[in-house]
Amino acid sequence: MSKSSRRAFISGSIASFTWLLTGGQASGAAPAITAGAPCKPKGRERTVDGVTYVCRNVKGKLVWRDTAVGAKQPVEVKQVTFTARVLESSELALGSTKVVNVPTPIGGTTGVVVTRTDVGITALAVACTHAGFPVARVGNVLECELHGSKFEPTTGAVLGGPAVRALFRYDATETNGGVYVTVTSG
Ligand code: FES
Repeated sequence: MSKSSRRAFISGSIASFTWLLTGGQASGAAPAITAGAPCKPKGRERTVDGVTYVCRNVKGKLVWRDTAVGAKQPVEVKQVTFTARVLESSELALGSTKVVNVPTPIGGTTGVVVTRTDVGITALAVACTHAGFPVARVGNVLECELHGSKFEPTTGAVLGGPAVRALFRYDATETNGGVYVTVTSG
């Protein structure tokens, strides 16, 4: 055997030996069924180069499948917060209520009832918690005309049914001569 043939034979032998050790799998590729790593029984797992394969039954044949392929990734729900200047401070006198439309982070607007009292500014969802009809200030309460529910304007608490849940409350702040409401989605 010539020197170069001997070299080729030795490197071929090393490659074959490595192939047997790794189960004959190329990195990143689904491994073939090989000596030392038979794809059975179903459910058997084998990790090669950090990739885990599982033996699956595909159309009656047991084959190795990369467990990462087709694995469902959890859907990340991101909360988005949006703060809008809804009124000038001078537009909301002490004791008064205004209904404003606040842009939402996902588009469109949402109705918010903004009230100034001696305890500060409160922002509540305009939608009645009974069936969604808009509430309005009547005397010292927020009232839903549709079925008569009444709410406390500084907390949103139910004062009279049929509604049983308080109005949703948003963060409201006042700075630089303006009233701001923060809406969060997600
Ligand atoms: S929708 Fe408001 S009381 Fe029914």
